[in-house]
Amino acid sequence: MRKPKGTRDFLPKESRKIEYVKKVFIEAAKSYGFEEIIMPTFEKTSLYSRGVGDETDVVKKEMFQVISSANIEKYCKGEYNLKKDGLTLRPEGTAGAARLLIENKEYISLPKKYFYITTNFRNERPQAGRFREFTQLGIEVFGVKESSCDIYVLLLFYNFIKKLGLKNTNLKINSIGCPKCRPSFHDALKSFIKPKLKDLCSDCNNRFDTNPLRIIDCKVEKDKEAIKGHPVSTDFLCSECQSNFNDVINTLNSLNIEYEIDNSIVRGLDYYSKMAFEMHTDMKGSISALGGGGRYDDLVSTIGGPSVPGVGFAFGLDRIVIAMESQNLFDNIDNINDIYFISIGETKAKAFEIFEDLRKNDYKIEFELNNRSLRSALKYADKQKFKFVLILGEEELKEEKIIFKDMINSKQELISWDNIKGVLNEN
Ligand code: HAM
Repeated sequence: MRKPKGTRDFLPKESRKIEYVKKVFIEAAKSYGFEEIIMPTFEKTSLYSRGVGDETDVVKKEMFQVISSANIEKYCKGEYNLKKDGLTLRPEGTAGAARLLIENKEYISLPKKYFYITTNFRNERPQAGRFREFTQLGIEVFGVKESSCDIYVLLLFYNFIKKLGLKNTNLKINSIGCPKCRPSFHDALKSFIKPKLKDLCSDCNNRFDTNPLRIIDCKVEKDKEAIKGHPVSTDFLCSECQSNFNDVINTLNSLNIEYEIDNSIVRGLDYYSKMAFEMHTDMKGSISALGGGGRYDDLVSTIGGPSVPGVGFAFGLDRIVIAMESQNLFDNIDNINDIYFISIGETKAKAFEIFEDLRKNDYKIEFELNNRSLRSALKYADKQKFKFVLILGEEELKEEKIIFKDMINSKQELISWDNIKGVLNEN
């Protein structure tokens, strides 16, 4: 039996990396005052079709819809409407967060600053950095219209990546306008695209009238080529969108944060307005987008809530891990414990007593469980990169001593039991 296509197993050497990235993310999010929300893994399909948008690839092609065995029969008889009654495995977190805000009346006291770590599902064609099951590290701020909030969110977005030590990253930003100014941009875009429409894919043809912005986002290489030189959203911004964009750019400049204005960043989800941004690496292909986000002032009202502005982002955890691996950034987190404890012969009772005392005092220690020979236990400790080894044999037990081995400097000494912590602290 094999796992389904596009899913992955994570062995401890991988999960250790994931745990590390999550830890840095949680610390970063909390340092900016964000608190965790936990949402259901599946939601009503209508949340995504209304919130994310029927015309997006995510909703149109990539959703994993869930149907219980009991409802399959009803579905076959035409008594169950997948779109109206159906459920979908979460493809992204923003729509769910907006639903959570409304359902729990969290909008009564704003702003709200949430972070989440979610498993997501998209039925995409699996390739490097693109999976059918993947994890996002996301944040959302609800209730702030001011551009200071866009900047705040961008700072966390940028600083988290810096904190991980990732190099060769590129922050790309754009403004895609709002319902007030977007129609004039759409008109210009449509006039430009109309003569080329026959050369574009069927999706682009379908989107031409309903959602021309999505044509800029088309993944088909031939289409990308055909629409080169298209009108750009930043030339059509209304005064409100322009001032939001100027504020963001001016502040990034004064903070010396490097960014690039990239008008091709239109994001793949329909709820965005005003600022949109992505973080890219120099890796080739779709894997290069580590994360993205933007402002979504109409999402909450679109799914039936009051008018509450929002701005947020999500990083793809899987892609961050791949990028960090390629830059050897996990070399120092190889082992969670520093000390390896080897007990030889009839010494177990005392060995466990010492081990427990050290562990309770927050020493990062692990116990040799395999009853291996001293030689092979030491070989294992070396391979696992433990910094220190403590060895308790029958001779040492009699003398109330223990062998302390410094694996990095290849030093060894016999120390008394009451001096173990002292020696560990010195090294
Ligand atoms: P998104 O751009 O669709 O935005 O996804 C964010 C990130 O999730 C991507 O940049 C990528 O790193 C990762 N990702 C997406 N699809 C896959 C996949 N199939 N395999 C691996 N990683 C993937 C959103 O989802 C928005 N909800 C972000 C947001 C939050 N906007 C505002 N708030």
